[in-house]
Amino acid sequence: MSTRRDEFTVLVLGGDGIGPEVVGAGVEVLLAVAKREGLRVEIEEDLLHGAAWERYGTFCRDETVARAREVDAVLVGAVGDPRFDDYLADDVSPVEEGTEAGAVARDPADKDGLMRLRRDLDVFAGLRPARAFEALVERTPFRPEVVRGADLMVLRELCGGAYFGLPRGIERLPGGGRRAYDATVYTEAEIERIARVGFELARRRRRRLLSVDKANVMESGMLWREVVSDIGAREYPDVALTHFYADNAAYQLARAPRDFDVVLADNLLGDLLSDQAGAIAGSLGMLPSASLAGLPPSGEPAKPGLYEPVHGSAPDIAGQGIANPLGTILSVAMMFEYGFALPALARRIEDAVERTLATGPRTPDLGGEAGSAALTHAVIDACRESGPG
Ligand code: IPM
Ligand code: MG
Repeated sequence: MSTRRDEFTVLVLGGDGIGPEVVGAGVEVLLAVAKREGLRVEIEEDLLHGAAWERYGTFCRDETVARAREVDAVLVGAVGDPRFDDYLADDVSPVEEGTEAGAVARDPADKDGLMRLRRDLDVFAGLRPARAFEALVERTPFRPEVVRGADLMVLRELCGGAYFGLPRGIERLPGGGRRAYDATVYTEAEIERIARVGFELARRRRRRLLSVDKANVMESGMLWREVVSDIGAREYPDVALTHFYADNAAYQLARAPRDFDVVLADNLLGDLLSDQAGAIAGSLGMLPSASLAGLPPSGEPAKPGLYEPVHGSAPDIAGQGIANPLGTILSVAMMFEYGFALPALARRIEDAVERTLATGPRTPDLGGEAGSAALTHAVIDACRESGPG
């Protein structure tokens, strides 16, 4: 029998807006569960994105990336600070009269702290589960019989595609006006590695994988479909593989969310579908994520790993103490499962969230009037009820 590890270090990057509030809640739950289990969790904090820019003049410091590589897990709040919108939009190089139109290929990792972390840590696998919580079924836009029991996982490729592809830029045209472009670029190797994670996840779930693309229009979609099919046929004949065009996938996800198990998509399409899946949960504030550099065999910790709620920085409600902390708390559950390889503790947190939703306080996005702190403490109490004495 292998001995369970009992010491972990977590780097906490609150980021912007409600980010620091929700990670505060996540850390409280993390430490409460750890203490009860006799685990030692060391918390280190650093700044990310707007908060980092203000202090250090960069959206993500080299030191932060280096530390993120060393620790057992990174907990991220949210990035996005409206104060930098103009700065980011303005960055276009002027073109001299009579010369070729020049372009700035701005590195997305230079304008977004989270993008830099994803790229530098090579956490290409974005695991974004969404399910219909029984207590919130009435709050979803779906009829209960359509959504009840829905339980899916969007697996989003995070380090390639339109987010990072070259060429990209905004250029001034010699004749006046500007032109902007991005490129959806994928190598076979990039598609293969994310497809394998998709098939492995499907094996741990209901053995169904839906791969999403625009193979009817895009070259990158054609290669995507071919490579995913080949891997499926060669290595995972036990997993039922289906392909949908992305538009149809969005439609079917709204029509019959219970039909989905694992949904594999590229960076951009996965971004869209994972937000859409939030409607199934009743609030975008409910959705957790884990961004991993691959899926190790069960029982082994994934490292490095970023754990973050899917929602954004919500500057409109920042500082009011009313943000829904459950997406972050469920991200902490994913940290226990994937980062620490302690799935039983992940289940305990998920059960506690489920029970709290049934009877406990709710934040405004869930139809209640409670603050984040009341909801967080109710989850911690519920974790205690189900933990060992
Ligand atoms: C997400 C977010 C990010 C993304 C933004 C904040 C860069 O929407 O994690 O889904 O587009 O990937
Ligand atoms: Mg998104």
